[in-house]
Amino acid sequence: MRCVSAIEYLKRFATTGSICPSSTALAQAVFDEVSGLRHEMGEVIFAGIGSGIIARQFLAKTGKTVFIDIDENFCRRFSENVCSENHSVICTDILDYLANHPGGRERTLVCCLPLRGAYFSKEVVDALARESRLGTKIVLFTYLPYGKRSRAYRALAQAEANLYLRRIVLLNVPPAMVYATVAPQAPPWMLDRFFSTRGSD
Ligand SMILES: C[S@@+](CC[C@H](N)C(=O)[O-])C[C@H]1O[C@@H](n2cnc3c(N)ncnc32)[C@H](O)[C@@H]1O
Repeated sequence: MRCVSAIEYLKRFATTGSICPSSTALAQAVFDEVSGLRHEMGEVIFAGIGSGIIARQFLAKTGKTVFIDIDENFCRRFSENVCSENHSVICTDILDYLANHPGGRERTLVCCLPLRGAYFSKEVVDALARESRLGTKIVLFTYLPYGKRSRAYRALAQAEANLYLRRIVLLNVPPAMVYATVAPQAPPWMLDRFFSTRGSD
């Protein structure tokens, strides 16, 4: 399986917004979260392939999955791993993709785009809100919690898409939090999977 090297990744800090590729623990946590949201995983749109470490978890999934990144190099590398006819890699801006392919109840959107601080994009958050209104479930991760006063949280809440903290992944640099627009059924401290510490790096 070919993934992007840490140096290549760091060189693209302006678009990745992170200092090194995600860990396998974070990748597993994001995948587990998406698979736990539905009885059967419907269509998955994976935005932000980057190093490919999280995206490659979704290669095990058999249904329709669209992997998207704005960076040609990331897309080209990841395409080498894709062999199912249900999986496609598209090099485009996620905003263009969502404008032309609006979602619905069967869709889960995994958003790996950086959205905090200088990386906040009103256009992207508005697109996520629009998707949520159409019934798409959204899963994303962040290094800093989405407080109720954060711009992304407020913009999504206005579209009745509340972000719920679903998992904390300590084995990642930096530690990460996985959020989804689906409320947990039990308080976080009762979830044995709240702290995802599995993974080898
Ligand atoms: C934090 S990285 C993704 C992390 C990655 N999933 C991993 O496993 O390490 C963010 C990615 O989003 C991509 N990206 C940034 N803006 C984008 C946009 N508007 N549309 C699509 N992809 C975008 C970047 O090129 C980068 O690969």
